[in-house]
Amino acid sequence: MTAIVEGMPSNLAIDFEQLNFQLQRRQKGYGRGRRMQIETDTAAIVGGVRHGYTTGAPIALVVENNDWKHWRNIMNVEPIEGSDEEKRRVHRPRPGHADLNGGLKYQLTDLRNVLERSSARETAARVAVGAVARQLLAAFGIKIGGQVIRIGEIEAPPHSLPLDEMIERTEQSSVRVVDSATEQAMEAYIDQIKAEGDSIGGVVECIVEGVPVGLGSHVQYDRKLDGRIAQAVMSINAFKGVEIGIGFEAGRLRGSQVHDEILYDEEKGYTRASNRLGGFEGGMTNGMPIVVRGVMKPIPTLYKPLRSVDIDTKEAFTAQVERSDACAVPAASVVLEHVVAWEVAKAFLEKFGGDSMEEIRANYEQYLQQVARY
Ligand SMILES: Cc1cc2nc3c(=O)[nH]c(=O)nc-3n(C[C@H](O)[C@H](O)[C@H](O)COP(=O)(O)O)c2cc1C
Repeated sequence: MTAIVEGMPSNLAIDFEQLNFQLQRRQKGYGRGRRMQIETDTAAIVGGVRHGYTTGAPIALVVENNDWKHWRNIMNVEPIEGSDEEKRRVHRPRPGHADLNGGLKYQLTDLRNVLERSSARETAARVAVGAVARQLLAAFGIKIGGQVIRIGEIEAPPHSLPLDEMIERTEQSSVRVVDSATEQAMEAYIDQIKAEGDSIGGVVECIVEGVPVGLGSHVQYDRKLDGRIAQAVMSINAFKGVEIGIGFEAGRLRGSQVHDEILYDEEKGYTRASNRLGGFEGGMTNGMPIVVRGVMKPIPTLYKPLRSVDIDTKEAFTAQVERSDACAVPAASVVLEHVVAWEVAKAFLEKFGGDSMEEIRANYEQYLQQVARY
């Protein structure tokens, strides 16, 4: 996969190890199958970075798949001779996937053309570009963490650990939770789901700390950063819902239980007494941590057969599966962090934009002083 990142300033130091560390985080997690062992993702930067620093030119990233050699002919750009079987033509659309809609819409009778592009493999590229965005944000003290909140019926109990500790603990966990009792319960639950030939989804959360007040804007619908983050989160494969702060819970509570009171402190300036609204008011950051949750549906490819219809014969069949993950929620948590990082970085550059890191830093510091004087 190739991704091109436009608009990064010059003189941002790129930490290649960190970039690949993020890609490898996406591949971990209890409930994933053999495929993750085949693909050990690394990103090669082939443009826009020189001697470890961005030049201001578009950054080109390539994430190769080690398995691609075996698919060279099947996915050949040029015409190939061979039977449908040799071309691995797909004519049986899988429920819950893009297969049938994509085939109908693009008039493609080999559903592999839809299947490969719509695959969540694409999230490796989104993590790679998000990892670059994350490095830009880190240069301004903005830190991002993620955790799994729920897998099926098992919910992680709430905690109030500092972000650093949350990051440290979830990094040690096979299911990206902070406590080992929940981890064990989730592992056992995933085993059970897998043994039953089924799959399971869950809820993941991302927290962004150190965000200045005023990213995004109230002045126009498409400049509201909470709205833009929501779009980005919903665009992750299999995501079916998004919440900012307490999200849907806000529909159940009274106003006095929801809104975060404004405080003033000589040292910190304006703050909020709580952060139920997840760092946003009026589509703008309010200086509190951004808290975003997303819900992932169960993986649609399951061992338990689901009914579908063959596009050649129009006959019903039940989808038989040779290989599938039972749960990709821990991986989805890593993807969530990176799509959020990308949206926050875009808003950051809109606000403080400049051609070089030095110019952006000057704009940023001047703005912080202006806010402090207010
Ligand atoms: C990290 C991640 C891994 C996924 N792995 C699989 C998988 O192994 N098998 C599968 O059928 N779907 C998997 N999915 C989900 C599908 O890609 C997704 O459901 C499908 O593309 C249809 O898109 P939609 O669910 O957003 O409508 C995964 C999603 C994510 C985020």
